[in-house]
Amino acid sequence: MLTVDEEKRFAAEAAVTHVSDGMCLGVGTGSTVEIFIDLLVEKIASENITITAVPSSYATELRLHDVGITTVPLGAVTSLACAVDGADEVDPNLALIKGGGAALLREKILAEAAQQLIIIVDSSKLVDILGTTVPIPVEVLPAALALSIDRIQRLGGSPMLRQAQRKAGPVITDNGNFIIDVSFPQITDPKQLDSQLNAIPGVIENGLFPTQADIVYVGQDKGAKLLTR
Ligand code: A5P
Repeated sequence: MLTVDEEKRFAAEAAVTHVSDGMCLGVGTGSTVEIFIDLLVEKIASENITITAVPSSYATELRLHDVGITTVPLGAVTSLACAVDGADEVDPNLALIKGGGAALLREKILAEAAQQLIIIVDSSKLVDILGTTVPIPVEVLPAALALSIDRIQRLGGSPMLRQAQRKAGPVITDNGNFIIDVSFPQITDPKQLDSQLNAIPGVIENGLFPTQADIVYVGQDKGAKLLTR
């Protein structure tokens, strides 16, 4: 039986095989991506290759700087061959919930720019129906907080403003917004719910990724299992 970190490592190892010399690579956020970055550093050193990276958060940007990988700002990018990111839940259709680290807005922009989005997860992230283990994070403009909460409740969601750790008050995202974590009883149509949430004025983005993932690597006992559409 593998530990969660061992599973994450197997998934990250599989994703690293997609990296080649000269690539400009999208790099997401989270603990699985951190393992991926460590493996990336090993690959760059052992194969003497050069890559640049587009980070999806300040956390990833700082980590990439620490390990000496040159970054390209997300705001400068329209298209990328490939991006690698984690997820909080993956359903059988490869629809995702992301945003546990509050980076969902930039992650969705990165996913849109990437021709191939590779998701790396441990096996605990696989679910039959989205929303089983985590709520959907929704990034909202602070000035639209009350209205967003009201409209989300009308959609049947139970919203909770995410509170910061070691700072009084709410989490402030890298983009200066709040995060509302929203539980829904059943998420049977992620694509429709994604549209409904984003149609609320003041909602900047939500953590549903219904169709973005092209490949999911799931760490498991014998290595990484590949899931494709
Ligand atoms: C960041 O906002 C998230 O979308 C992460 O990609 C997601 O929470 C997965 O993180 P872990 O790899 O830490 O589980």
